[in-house]
Amino acid sequence: MPFRISTFLAASAAGGILGFAVFGARALWFGAWLGALLWFGLDIWRARRLLSALRHDVGSLPTRAGGMWGEMAERIRKHLRERDIQTRQAQDRLQEFLAAIQASPNGVVLIDEQGRIEWTNETAAQQLGIDTERDVLQHLSNLVRDPAFVAYLASWNYSRDVTIDAPSLRQGRSGQPVRLSMQIHPYAGNRRMLLTRDVTALEQAETMRRDFVANVSHEIRTPLTVLVGFVETLQNLPLDADERSRYLRLMAQQAHRMQTLVNDLLTLSRLEGNAPPPASQWTAVRALLAHCEEEGRALSRQLNAQGHVLSFVLEADCEISGAPVELQSAMSNLVSNAIRYTPGGGEVAVHWRQLSDGRGEFSVRDSGPGIAAEHIPRLTERFYRIDRSRSRETGGTGLGLAIVKHVAQRHGGELRVESTPGQGSRFALVLPRARVRPLPAPGPRA
Ligand SMILES: Nc1ncnc2c1ncn2[C@@H]1O[C@H](COP(=O)(O)OP(=O)(O)O)[C@@H](O)[C@H]1O
Ligand SMILES: [Mg+2]
Repeated sequence: MPFRISTFLAASAAGGILGFAVFGARALWFGAWLGALLWFGLDIWRARRLLSALRHDVGSLPTRAGGMWGEMAERIRKHLRERDIQTRQAQDRLQEFLAAIQASPNGVVLIDEQGRIEWTNETAAQQLGIDTERDVLQHLSNLVRDPAFVAYLASWNYSRDVTIDAPSLRQGRSGQPVRLSMQIHPYAGNRRMLLTRDVTALEQAETMRRDFVANVSHEIRTPLTVLVGFVETLQNLPLDADERSRYLRLMAQQAHRMQTLVNDLLTLSRLEGNAPPPASQWTAVRALLAHCEEEGRALSRQLNAQGHVLSFVLEADCEISGAPVELQSAMSNLVSNAIRYTPGGGEVAVHWRQLSDGRGEFSVRDSGPGIAAEHIPRLTERFYRIDRSRSRETGGTGLGLAIVKHVAQRHGGELRVESTPGQGSRFALVLPRARVRPLPAPGPRA
């Protein structure tokens, strides 16, 4: 301010002195007045320049101009710069938050009071078929039309979630719609956040569990009903010794069936719960194969007077690593299936070899009825049988191949099935290279 007064006085004084010097004493006051006027003109020009910059383009604020107007421009510029930095920092923070929500495996949709989409992350956009840019401010209920969800959105009661079919997403192979759990959480007054979660796998697991329990109960109930019937017959009817022993034989058969079922169930549950098979425990394939042969020959004789043409070939003398009990159970299952489903007189060939890439293959080929292509992918499902009564007749539980597949997977291998109806089948258990090593050839002493 003092600077402003002093420049004003200096301008008037300079005008006065100039008037006095040029036109004499008469022009002194006129000169001073003219000087003051000039100062005012200049002052107004500078004020207007500042005002016009503030109105139109803050970037063109005068720099390094002195005086009150210059200082004002400088301070405004400084404030603006600070505000700019703060805004940029706030924006960066916001972007980081959005990036974090984007990375969430759950879908997130922010909805305003009227139910219009304010923002959505990629996951939700994909699950709900929303375009993250085009559909902003669209009503969510226009895009997700499932009646259950529309009612839920309008109810303003969000204590539970609703589960719907995803409008646009299908599951990979089956083509069934993906199942989505949708839950809304209100925030900041009347705004809402919708969280979406893919619960397809969860629902499938639940269905599988229910089916499994129903299947097990059914499998146990059938022999149990027969058993109870025989017990009642024995209790109520006077039977001669022959009949009694016939009934007891049938009862023993049913009891045995239940026992096999329970054993298979226990094997499966052990496979699911146990630690992965050891990598350093090695078993000779020769021994496993010998055990298969012993069991196979006994089973063949037991099932059929005619028996089968069985062959067991060890092409390469190897050791395999893993859990011996599991490997034996998988191999025996394949051999017993081939013998059970191949009519008497048929051929069953069991073969161990090392493939050219070092993997080991245990295969069982039979000349049985074969399996139609549509059944093959489902054979390893629990309790899946092509012919229920045939499987029962031969003492099957429907769990054998489920066990084999489990064992294969636990050892990092796979179960391969090839079959031509009418010509026979070939089941192969392939073990990874790391689990197979050739046995050194026997020395001269052996
Ligand atoms: N070698 C085979 N030849 C023909 N069908 C087979 C053979 N092995 C398995 N199957 C079919 O696969 C089904 C499932 O086999 P598995 O899981 O071992 O149960 P099961 O206890 O019935 O033998 C069998 O019921 C049978 O229909
Ligand atoms: Mg079987």
